[in-house]
Amino acid sequence: MKGGELMGSIDYSRFWTVPERPVPTWQEEVFQYDFGGANPGPDVMPIEELAEAARAVIHEEKEIIARYPPTYGPVRTREIILHKMAAHRGMTWPTITEVLTTNGSAQGITLCLETLTNPGDTIITDRFFYQGAVRAFIARELRIVTIDRDEDGMRMDLLEQKLDELKSEGVTPKFIYTIPSPQNPDGSIMPPDRRAKMLALAQEYDTLILEDDCYVDQMLDVDEMPPAIASLDGAQERVIYIATFSKILSPGVRVAWVAGDERLIERMAAYKQDVGNDYLSGLIVAKFMEDHMDARISHLNDRMRHKRNTMIAALGENFGPLVSMTVPKAGMFVWAEFPQGTDMQALEPITQERGVRYLGGHQFSPTGEGSQRARLNYSFPTPQEIQDGIGLLANVMREEGSLPD
Ligand SMILES: Cc1ncc(COP(=O)(O)O)c(C=O)c1O
Repeated sequence: MKGGELMGSIDYSRFWTVPERPVPTWQEEVFQYDFGGANPGPDVMPIEELAEAARAVIHEEKEIIARYPPTYGPVRTREIILHKMAAHRGMTWPTITEVLTTNGSAQGITLCLETLTNPGDTIITDRFFYQGAVRAFIARELRIVTIDRDEDGMRMDLLEQKLDELKSEGVTPKFIYTIPSPQNPDGSIMPPDRRAKMLALAQEYDTLILEDDCYVDQMLDVDEMPPAIASLDGAQERVIYIATFSKILSPGVRVAWVAGDERLIERMAAYKQDVGNDYLSGLIVAKFMEDHMDARISHLNDRMRHKRNTMIAALGENFGPLVSMTVPKAGMFVWAEFPQGTDMQALEPITQERGVRYLGGHQFSPTGEGSQRARLNYSFPTPQEIQDGIGLLANVMREEGSLPD
């Protein structure tokens, strides 16, 4: 029963310490055309390999899964994570105690907030960024200072200017939150010189960087991602790195991690009072990744490249010059912009009624701006669903008077 619908005998208002907010997770509602997600679709689930990994792990690790999990996560899971960071991101510095597995990288973000921030603290972000982080930062009541971008991501000249301004106010931001490889939602890939500059600025102004590397494996038209900021010289103490298996396996398994200086990780582990994350999922994911990681990534990307191309073509056919976008070279989204005055926020419930879900641009902004934009995911739906669903979206928008006939 939802709070407030049925008045019981207790008035909880005197108990609450937090204001009312919408529940952040998606409902179980299934949309026929779902462009709102951020995960590989059911059509690319590796059912047999996953079932095999589960069976093997249950046999191999039966002694272990009969216990409570260790706070840092299973050693086997952390070992494959260390391997992935070294092999894919050139991060050779983390040791086994500099990695903490988390319940999705979303938990990595909230652990950083719990251990590093108090309400009212200042952080620096892009103008538009991952909607879950927007919600988490707002819920923590942080002062969110945003920096404009260009096609290569956050502008370092503006960042420097802002850090300088804050310094003159006596404010040291707690961290700079960045999603450089590629950005969610806009798909930009931050070039190496900007990464180096961001680290140099963090050092100069004595702040930290929270590098969210969620989409690094989704390389569609790039052979190699620029090095992680966390892999650069001197980054070890400055950068907290978070990443996930959600985007190459499924967000349903909730296996992700945070890596950073041992002191930071230890503090997060000490405050992670959930008695560890699902042991079995952690071990199944480890086994699956030991056997299939690189093949899985390249299979997904081949499939996703096709879906991305289908999405771009469908947007072109149905919207023509009424949509502007940059074709993403990596990641899972098109960050579409419709004509000035289009209200994708108001349209969201209307298109959902008709079976089409996307995320309005306002969700990616701490101030709620950007409602003529939408983030459209192409990794979850099938190519056919992309074609049909984008056609339906255009029809609904025309019917609602949001687009010229
Ligand atoms: C940039 C970014 N960070 C973190 C997350 C959280 O992912 P998870 O908690 O599934 O690891 C997402 C999910 O979409 C994301 O886009």
